Formats: sequence, C-alpha cells, structure tokens
Amino acid sequence: MDRIPEEFRSRWVSAGSVAVLTGAGISAESGVPTFRDAQTGLWARWRPEDLATPQAFQRNPRLVWDWYRWRRELVRDAEPGAGHLALAQLERRIPRFHLATQNVDGLHQRAGSKEPAELHGNLFRDLCAYEGTEVELPEETDEAPPRCPRCGGPVRPGVVWFGEPLPRRAMQEAESAAAVSDVYLVIGTSGMVHPAGDLPVAARRAGAFVVEINPEPTPITDFVHLSLRGRAGNILATLLEALP
Ligand code: OAD
Repeated sequence: MDRIPEEFRSRWVSAGSVAVLTGAGISAESGVPTFRDAQTGLWARWRPEDLATPQAFQRNPRLVWDWYRWRRELVRDAEPGAGHLALAQLERRIPRFHLATQNVDGLHQRAGSKEPAELHGNLFRDLCAYEGTEVELPEETDEAPPRCPRCGGPVRPGVVWFGEPLPRRAMQEAESAAAVSDVYLVIGTSGMVHPAGDLPVAARRAGAFVVEINPEPTPITDFVHLSLRGRAGNILATLLEALP
C-alpha cells in the first residue's frame, strides 16, 4: 500500500473508538491454513464442514478429536504474525479499541492483545460434551476423545461448530463495539459466515468508516468505504507506522 487515503487518515485521527474483526487470513501468514484453503495432507479428503459439527462428533468422536489435535499441533508451532503484533500495538495506542476474532488459534493473545472477543471459541479450551462446561484435562492422554473427569462424558474442543450458537457475551461485546465505532477494520475474512459477517454491515449502518484489509475482494467489499488490497501483516505494519 503506497499511501493512506486522506478520508481514512482523517477519520482515524478523529476516531474516538476503533473496532476490529479478524478472520483466518490474519493467521495465514503464521502458517495456519485459512478455513477455505484446501485441507492439507492426510486431512485433504475431508471438508471442515464435515468435521466441525456436533453430528460429526457424535458419529465419529475419535476422528473429530484427532482432527482438532492435528490443528492444535499446527497452531502450537505457529508464531503470531506482523498483523497480530500490529493490532496489539494499536490496542495500546487507542483508548477505546475492541478486537473480535473468528479465529480459534489464540494467536491474538500470544501477540499481546488483551481479551479479544473469541466469537468462535478457542482450540485450546476443552469442554465436557455432556455438561457443556470447561474441563481441565490432567495431562496429554492417548484416549481420543478423553473422558470428562467429572461425569465420564466425551471431551470436545471449546470451539463453535456449524449450527451452534456463538458465545453470547463475546457476540454482545462485538456488537456493542461495532455500534459505537468511528472506524471499523475487517481483516482477513471472507465474511461468508454469520453472525460474525454481519458486524461490518452493522458498523457501517451505525456510521463507522469501514475498511477491509484482504488480498481479494469478498462479499463484504461492496459494503465497505475502503478496500485495502494486500496482506494483513504488510498493511497493518504500514498503518501502525503512518497513523498516530
Ligand atoms: P476464510 O478461509 O473463509 O477466509 C479467509 C480470508 O482471508 C479470505 O478472504 C482470504 O482472501 C483472506 N486472506 C488470505 N491471506 C490473507 C492475508 N495474508 N492477509 C489478509 N487476508 C488474507 O476464513 P474466515 O473468513 O475466517 O467458522 O472464515 C470464517 C469462519 O468460517 C471461520 O471462523 C469458521 C469457518 O466456518 C467456524 O468454525 C464456526
């Protein structure tokens, strides 16, 4: 990105509050495949939609648990990228700043972002599938899936599966932030999944200046004021440098 359009700069400088929604694209630069990239390696024959559902877990808990264990290993080896780090810096610089993410990889926290609203949960959280509450597993176990230490039920990853409701508090926080934001950044998401995908439209309706950061156009592109074509790491590092 060569220069920052004047309207964006002036809206940014006068912004009382900034809100952000991120998707898998911001973690792509950390080596974490985006959701609609082809599955890699031994998982190539399954679509995420066929694994990330309560029905898939009921049908084949071991397969689903192993898929998530594979994704955890992938993320454990990943490092936060320039985009994650830039957002953590911006958060420290802007008094009213809210970050919501659709990602479950925890890379925003590892980059230093405080309490991002995790709209789709977190890969490293374990839940009892029967009780719906978090479980602390004693240590890595070969059992797949492990059993709940309280009731013996199967343990599942603490992520939102297709067809499941989003965590209420996280979504309410993200909706409130969108409603009062003066600038709204939509970064690295295809915007194809709702209700997260509705947030930028809600922000625009409430008067925010909405900026999309993505190498490709998306279904959200028509709703935003400005589309910055490029990788999250490069563009956010430039914004961090060029904006107060
Ligand atoms: P997608 O895989 O749908 O979209 C990733 C987006 O990131 C695409 O628009 C890419 O163009 C863009 N992208 C790729 N590399 C990028 C980069 N370096 N910088 C910026 N953008 C880049 O992933 P999401 O939109 O996050 O939901 O998917 C949303 C949800 O769909 C996921 O959270 C998941 C899935 O169903 C659940 O698991 C409930």
